[in-house]
Formats: sequence, C-alpha cells, structure tokens
Amino acid sequence: MDIDKIIEGLIPENMLKRGQVTLSALLQPVKDLLHQRRMPMEGFSERQLEFLLILLSSLDSDKDPGAARVGEREGRVASPFIERLSAGFNHGVGRSGHLTSPQPKAVGGSLMQQIANQVAVDAIRQLGLNNIHDGIITPLSTGMTLAMVLASFRQEYGVKRVLYPRIDHLSPQRGIAFTGLDLVTVPTLVEGDAVVADMGAFETALSSQEDCAVLATTTFFPPRAPDPIKDIARLCQSNDVPLVINNAYGVQSQSIMSQVRSAIDAGRVDAVVQSTDKNFLAPVGGSIVVSPRTETISSIAETYAGRASAAPVVQALAALLALGLNRYHELMADQVKCRAFLEDELRAIGEKIGQSVLDVPNPIACAITMDGLDVVELGSRLFNHRVTGPRAVAAGTFGSSVDAYPHSYLVMNAAIGVLEKDVQDATTKLYKEVTNLSR
Ligand SMILES: Cc1ncc(COP(=O)(O)O)c(C=O)c1O
Repeated sequence: MDIDKIIEGLIPENMLKRGQVTLSALLQPVKDLLHQRRMPMEGFSERQLEFLLILLSSLDSDKDPGAARVGEREGRVASPFIERLSAGFNHGVGRSGHLTSPQPKAVGGSLMQQIANQVAVDAIRQLGLNNIHDGIITPLSTGMTLAMVLASFRQEYGVKRVLYPRIDHLSPQRGIAFTGLDLVTVPTLVEGDAVVADMGAFETALSSQEDCAVLATTTFFPPRAPDPIKDIARLCQSNDVPLVINNAYGVQSQSIMSQVRSAIDAGRVDAVVQSTDKNFLAPVGGSIVVSPRTETISSIAETYAGRASAAPVVQALAALLALGLNRYHELMADQVKCRAFLEDELRAIGEKIGQSVLDVPNPIACAITMDGLDVVELGSRLFNHRVTGPRAVAAGTFGSSVDAYPHSYLVMNAAIGVLEKDVQDATTKLYKEVTNLSR
C-alpha cells in the first residue's frame, strides 16, 4: 500500500514529510528485523512489538474474512481475549512431522517461528557461542527439551543409555525417563566445599558402556560445581559419543558461555539447551536448543509429536526483541554486581552467626552453611516472609548432588533481572529469621 500516493494533497507536503519521519522511526527496526533476523541492539517499543505481531499473525488463514473453514482445526478461539493469549497465532507452529515445517494455514505463525529461531540463534552467538550454526526455540521446558534431544540421539545413533554426572534435580532425570533411555548416574565427589563430577568414574563408564550418550550440566546450585564440559567434550569426541549440555541458565554468564564455546571447539558437543525464561525473562515454557550442526537441529525438531503452541515461541521472540542486546548487557552487568553483593552480605551474616559461605565456583548462586540449625524450617520461614527462591538443604539429604554432604546450607541466587533491593531485603530477612531460629 503506497500511503504517500493515497494521502497526497490532503495535508501540506511539509507536514506529510514530518509524519513520515515519525512513521519510519517506528517501522525501521521492524523492517531491519524482517531483513536481517538478528537480535536488535536497542529493544523494541511496545508499539513496535504489537505492530510486528499483528502484521505476522494477520497472514494466518483464520484472519481471512472470506475463508470457508471446513477443517477440524481452523484456529477458532472462544473470544478475542483468548486470541490475545497466543498473540494472534491461533494455528500454532509446526506440522505433524516436524516442529519447524511451514504450516499452510499458519503462514504468519511459520514466518514468526523462523524469525524467532534466527533471532534466538543470533542472541546465543552474540552472547558467546559464535561457533554454533543453528538452533530452534522449543515450546517446552528444559527437561522436556533435553528429552527431545535425547530422543533424536536414539533415532540418529541408536543410543540406549545416558551417562549423567549426578545433579539432584528431577527435571532432567524425568526428561531421560520420558525417552525410555536408561539413566546411568555418574557419581560425584566432595572436593573442599564443592561437589564435583567424579571424572575417573565418568571415564570408566564412558569406555565400558555401549550405545550411550552424555548429559552434562553447566549451571546448578552450590555446592554442585559446573561439570568440566571441555574435558567431557574431548572424551566424547575420542569415544565417539554424543553429548548434550544442559546450560539451563548459563547464557547470562560470560564465564559459563566461554566454557561452552571452548567445549564446542575442543571436542564433541551435539546440542546445548537453555531456558528462555531463566535467561531471557520470558514466561516459563520454552527453551533454546543450539548446535554446531544444522542436521542435529533438524533431527531434534523431528522428534516433536504434532503441532505446537506458538505461545512459548512468540513470547521468547518478544522478550528478545524487547530487551535488545544493549539492555541485556546492562542486565548482565547488574547481575554480576548483585552476585558480588549477595556474597558480601552472606559473608557478613556468616561472621555474625558463626557460619560460612561455601567456597564453590558459581557465577549466579551463593550458599551459606546453616550447621546445627533446622535449615528446612528456616527456608519455610523465609518463604512465609515473602522471600522467594532460597533453597534449604539439610546435611546428608537430597539436594547436594552427593551422598552425605557434611553441611546444612541455604542457597540464594542473584540471577539475571535481580535487583539490589531483592538481595538487600532477602539477606536482611535471613539475618532476622536465622537469629530468631537460634534463640
Ligand atoms: C540445571 C537445571 N536443569 C533443569 C532445570 C529445570 O528446568 P525446567 O523446569 O525448565 O525443566 C533446572 C531448574 O529448575 C536446573 O537448574
């Protein structure tokens, strides 16, 4: 539509030109996105996001006023409010055979998904993994996305079991169980305060187990230290074993991303999975899986059964566009400051109450011992006092990723998006509650 021609003569020429300047400021970032499909430096405004999503979703067949709809699935929704819940992409994404196959009735949804995938890959490349080549946003959490990756390994390589350096979190384990593959837990060791993968046991398992894949983890709660993914990737290469890295919330950390990049350069890494909500401030429900190989991504996309909700994909796209790289870097810098502040505050509390901060490398979380105290009670008191997120683990119980960890402890996170006030309020309440508990 040539707006200039239509409105020619209706208003003075100089006014028209001025209006066009404003319009072009709105449209230029949208045009750039459609051409380049990269994460913008500056975040989109609400108006730009709405414009983009209305434009794209208007291509779907359910918006065609002249369509005669006789399919069993026609993108019909009960009310306009319901349509807003999917940002207008009522037809979803993908087809029965492939998560990224274009869907004839969902021209806009298919385009949106392609753009979202390319923006996500660009974001991951810009934030450290410049050695990945392809990726997709899955409409699933981290655990279920790991299941998709492992299912593709079974299909491609005949994998029957998964070697998994122990992490006390049920989601990845359930992902493995979902695939029907056997879980082979690799034990951990206590080294100083840290719990680390037993690499001797790992190497033995790798050379003795047939038809296996490996699931390694970057980010987890202290005392568990990140897995040595570069060594693991090298071993996977020499043993010809596929490796998936659970990088659940590692994108926000430069140091974790550089470890993942080195692992990809040094050895075999088939796929890296990261949560869209934990890294990019989208609502829960999506993950970004990336790989140095396009065929791996295609094979992962083929494991999805049926069509998928567009909501997690469009939410991730909108979050990436709303943030922009500049703002994301600012948030990363704030995260680093808040993590240091959290450690300082916990150290100060530790000195006052005779406990100590666990010496474990972790760019996001920090743990303080609570020996001799009912740490589970402390955790629930904090929750009741509106502190969300601390993890309370009693000595020797599930959570430490090792049998018989000698300390009880409390973990707090300074994850991306955290404010100094969160850390200040949480640690002030911690000091108050721990003092009350010790009375
Ligand atoms: C290392 C790790 N993997 C997986 C998960 C679970 O993620 P999701 O709920 O997205 O499956 C978490 C945290 O919740 C985690 O810390």
